[in-house]
Amino acid sequence: MYNNKIIISPSILSADFANLEKEIKQVEQAGADWLHIDVMDGHFVPNITIGVPVVKSIKRVTNLTLDVHLMIEHPEKYIDAFADSGADIITVHYEADGVKENTEKVLNQIKTKGVLAGLSIKPKTKANEIKQYINLADLILVMTVEPGFGGQTFMHDCAEKLKIIKPLQTDGQYLQVDGGINEETAKICKDFGANSLVAGSYIFNSNDYAKQIQTLR
Ligand code: DX5
Ligand code: ZN
Repeated sequence: MYNNKIIISPSILSADFANLEKEIKQVEQAGADWLHIDVMDGHFVPNITIGVPVVKSIKRVTNLTLDVHLMIEHPEKYIDAFADSGADIITVHYEADGVKENTEKVLNQIKTKGVLAGLSIKPKTKANEIKQYINLADLILVMTVEPGFGGQTFMHDCAEKLKIIKPLQTDGQYLQVDGGINEETAKICKDFGANSLVAGSYIFNSNDYAKQIQTLR
């Protein structure tokens, strides 16, 4: 799945949920590589979004790689269900209950399902804290906003973590950013080594998805 191009993963959190199939087909035609699906439980983050049945339905209508971002406590309880619903990538939070004490085990649980395993850190978590797990994950997601909502402002100090993580990764591993990505912040992240960009409002709040995706890339 890996090549040298920048992977664009539109976050459907900013899409029109009443017309989700149409929105997904539009970003697919507009050149998206992956589809970012934000799962929130109202505990790990102060918001509730979508769950397993929605992922299952999305899988039926798109060929895009489903990039599932679990912002939930105890993700280990739901990994199998998300994998069976068609997730191609499952990213868990290092800070979540069930992950911090058992990071390697949870990443292995994801890989055992034949799914790429991602590990994410919130703004307050230092890159050094996950150093020992970087090589065990297929993807590291550096949050550049406090997780929970779309449309927030990019936190520049978070992007600095990319410079620490990048040299510890090997070829084929993904370094992803999520939160406040636009034309300007995408450039910063790419310069610091990110090869996968999540963008919600920048894409879905525009009327030309293809142009936005092209600009980010
Ligand atoms: C926030 C989510 C993001 C969100 C990004 O917790 O993880 O994926 O959709 O939205 P923008 O790109 O609008 O900051
Ligand atoms: Zn996300």
